[in-house]
Amino acid sequence: MARMSLAARLTATFLVIMTVCFVLVGLLLYRAAEQRGHEQDDTNLVLSARHLRRLVAELDSLGELKAHQDRMVISVLGDTSNALRIVDDSGQALVDYNPSGFPLDVRAPVPADQRVVADNLRTWRGDDGVPIRGVAVTGQVRDGAHVTIVVARSLSDREAVLHRYGRDMALRLLAGMVAAIVLSHLLVRRALRPLRAMASDAAMITAQSLQTRLSAGGAPAELHALTDALNAMLDRLEGGFTRVWQFTVDLAHDLRTPIGNLRGTNEVALTRTRTAPEYQALLGSNIEECDRVSRTIENVLFLARADNPQFALQCVSLDVAVELERIAEYFEGIASERQVAIQTLGTAHLSADRDLFRRAVSNLLSNALRYTPPMETITLRTAAVDDMVVVAVENPGDGIPPEHREKLFDRFYRVDRSRSDSANSTGLGLSIVKSVMELHGGRVAVESEVQGVTRFVLWFPNRS
Ligand SMILES: Nc1ncnc2c1ncn2[C@@H]1O[C@H](COP(=O)(O)OP(=O)(O)OP(=O)(O)O)[C@@H](O)[C@H]1O
Ligand SMILES: [Mg+2]
Repeated sequence: MARMSLAARLTATFLVIMTVCFVLVGLLLYRAAEQRGHEQDDTNLVLSARHLRRLVAELDSLGELKAHQDRMVISVLGDTSNALRIVDDSGQALVDYNPSGFPLDVRAPVPADQRVVADNLRTWRGDDGVPIRGVAVTGQVRDGAHVTIVVARSLSDREAVLHRYGRDMALRLLAGMVAAIVLSHLLVRRALRPLRAMASDAAMITAQSLQTRLSAGGAPAELHALTDALNAMLDRLEGGFTRVWQFTVDLAHDLRTPIGNLRGTNEVALTRTRTAPEYQALLGSNIEECDRVSRTIENVLFLARADNPQFALQCVSLDVAVELERIAEYFEGIASERQVAIQTLGTAHLSADRDLFRRAVSNLLSNALRYTPPMETITLRTAAVDDMVVVAVENPGDGIPPEHREKLFDRFYRVDRSRSDSANSTGLGLSIVKSVMELHGGRVAVESEVQGVTRFVLWFPNRS
């Protein structure tokens, strides 16, 4: 099903609201007019009945009634829907004015000594079902004879007027409603124009034009929040794209160096026939370069997997001191080659992914081994601090100048490129440490004194 536009939805909502309001207002107005009409009719009937009773009371005998018939009729004249009948006690009509010929009810007249009020009025129906409203009252002439005076009014013309009024009002309300809907639709469309402009601006943005920003322009205040949010999203996307682009450039650069080395040494070797030991040396250096390429690829793959939100940690309870001991043992060979000692201090327990924990600490330790002068000691330290477990790798050395510390954890960042571009360096070790810490909900920090101790600290949230 095609989705309804916002303008159509708002117009439909207005339509419902307006229909309800207009119908309610129309009904109220109709009811008010109807009531006013009935009140007016009732008042006229009561006043006529009282007037006729007074006229009758002024007569000396019933005989005079005929002579004053015109006066009597005049009091109800002016409208063919009115009727008047005066009957004597025997039921004989003395005065009879009923141009419409509707039935008149002479039963239960208001006694002569009782004042006629609106409550005495009754409603009955004519032969054609038309409602008739009227009252019968008893009148008395001076000689004491009684007559029954009936004053009545057919409500058919009143109903016709009301009907016309209702129809006219309904037509006008309908016209008002149509005008209101057309206007509201135009206004809504106009109000949504900035949104359409924003949508077409957004549609123009591609990966190549991520620097474009949406303009709030003349948009209403509500849309400014949306524009700001979309622009903030574009900032993040642009940042992300730039990082991916930088990463690709760095990766290409890092792979080009060992491949260039491979090709260069092989080309040189092929310029003439070599001895077996020379070929062996060449193959050895080839393998070293291949190792570097595969380490870079392996690290890049690890970072890509860690970036995936689906990455699942296999957390287990770790005795940190034991883990540090094991890592230290693993690096014992290289350490003694470089005449560096490794000591472990402290105890703590931690819930973490064992492989990732080892990987992070090993990366820090392999860095420390590279930058520690001979005869010095590297310290692996752990402690539980409040609700965190801290693991620190400390080594004496030249230290890291402050301006580099911020960027150390960026992918492919090295402080001293010439020195680090050796076969052992991929420039990804610390970014892997950062990823591992983010996966664990922790963080990594570095403190370094020039010509002093460099300390990398891992903060793990302690969930064990
Ligand atoms: N303990 C340290 N003392 C001095 N500098 C360090 C130390 N640890 C890291 N660095 C600096 O930080 C840079 C980045 O380290 P990182 O571990 O990310 O890369 P790498 O060691 O060069 O390569 P990889 O670890 O992938 O083999 C290093 O090149 C080095 O310049
Ligand atoms: Mg490293």
